[in-house]
Amino acid sequence: MSDPNNLKIIKNEKELGELKILKGSLGPDVIDIRNLYNQTGLFTYDPSYGATSSCESSITFIDGDEGILLHRGYPIEQLAEKSSFLEIAYLLLNGELPNKDEYSKFSSIITNHTMVHEQFLNFYQGFRRDAHPMAILCAATGAMSAFYNDSGDINDPIQRKITINRLIAKIPTLAAMAYKYSIGQPFVYPDNNLSYAENFLKMCFSVPAQDFKSRNILSDAIEKIFILHADHEQNASTSTVRLAGSSGANLFACISAGIASLWGPAHGGANEAVLKMLNEIQNEKNIPNYLKKARDKNDPFRLFGFGHRVYKNYDPRAKVMQKTCHEVLELLGIKDDPLLKLAMKLEKIALEDSYFIEKKLYPNVDFYSGIILKAIGFPTSMFTVLFAVARTVGWVAQWNEMIEDPNQRIGRPRQLYTGSKKRDFIDIKNRN
Ligand code: SDX
Repeated sequence: MSDPNNLKIIKNEKELGELKILKGSLGPDVIDIRNLYNQTGLFTYDPSYGATSSCESSITFIDGDEGILLHRGYPIEQLAEKSSFLEIAYLLLNGELPNKDEYSKFSSIITNHTMVHEQFLNFYQGFRRDAHPMAILCAATGAMSAFYNDSGDINDPIQRKITINRLIAKIPTLAAMAYKYSIGQPFVYPDNNLSYAENFLKMCFSVPAQDFKSRNILSDAIEKIFILHADHEQNASTSTVRLAGSSGANLFACISAGIASLWGPAHGGANEAVLKMLNEIQNEKNIPNYLKKARDKNDPFRLFGFGHRVYKNYDPRAKVMQKTCHEVLELLGIKDDPLLKLAMKLEKIALEDSYFIEKKLYPNVDFYSGIILKAIGFPTSMFTVLFAVARTVGWVAQWNEMIEDPNQRIGRPRQLYTGSKKRDFIDIKNRN
């Protein structure tokens, strides 16, 4: 007797089979197509996985229509206001907020593993000074597998935890080293007396010639930016980490692959692209022309910082980021920043534009982050690096969930083949 909740596949009035409908705790039900080919001889076709669930996950939930983002059930707005980045890292990894003892142990482990092998100093010397920091971070993260290969057994939960903690602890150090190297300043060792965000700022901005004064305004802003970028369900870079990890590759290599995917301007590279775009627009009077380019299907230009594959409403992170942006610029005494004023005008005009309304294009997390980072003193080339530092906690949590998933197998999508049918080889002397 077939299950009335199943989906029957009927072609030309002939029943080919039936598929189970799976229910999650939130969000749309899904069709389990694992037996589709065996029952029907058919594959599915979804070239950018816009309608395909690649996994079962309990880490992050997004409702794009309602503009909702939950991490283990907690709304991002509450986490951004009340939590800390390391507390959220613990939540993403373990499923629950830590109690005081758990948090103290976790933050102590991370704090005490922030240094990298001294040989990394030589590794960085191989780059040209004008190397993009993302190129350096991508390479250095992958190279960690050559320096820390004593915890590489991905099937051992203890070794997985060691590697995960090493990545969370060391990625800010590698990122700061990439920045220092690009500006020709000496590397700054981590300072275990500082918080995660304060330590990152000190490694980036302190110099041996004078004492470093940590400023709460800046470390609070960085903490907020890290929180807002921590995880975001099965986005392109997280899916890259999962697919790389499904072959059994070591976690350092998988995170390096995630960094590479994040670098693209359609993804994490958008924050750098937003600043370049605002600098190119320069003046409010040029906005209509750029919106015209964005609407033109024949023009490859996209309005960076707008639109999202999932959000067809405001990205909830963008709202928090906008508030933080105003606060930081106010506190830094640069509330009249011309780029922010231009960004606000662009946002207002775009949201009233019929094309953007029809296509449901709203500002995303990248629209304001670059303005804050510029105000703090980072060059645009470092914007995506900060995104990668933050997203590392999400990547490692998603990777670990995949490794622990009893249903996980090596990822191997199929295709719709439209190439040549079988034909015989022609020797070169017979080719015209
Ligand atoms: C991130 O997935 C994630 O979760 C990512 C992220 C995360 O935290 O991991 O949220 C981080 O990557 C945010 C996105 C940052 N990227 C940008 O800001 C770059 C600009 N945005 C676009 O490139 C675009 O919006 C994407 C890449 C983000 C989404 O592309 P899609 O999936 O093609 O968008 P869509 O299907 O909703 O587009 C609908 C229509 C399309 O036109 P039609 O084919 O219907 O004619 O709107 C158009 C798109 O071409 N469109 C835009 C546009 N974004 C979409 N047109 C002009 N400007 C834009 N920004």
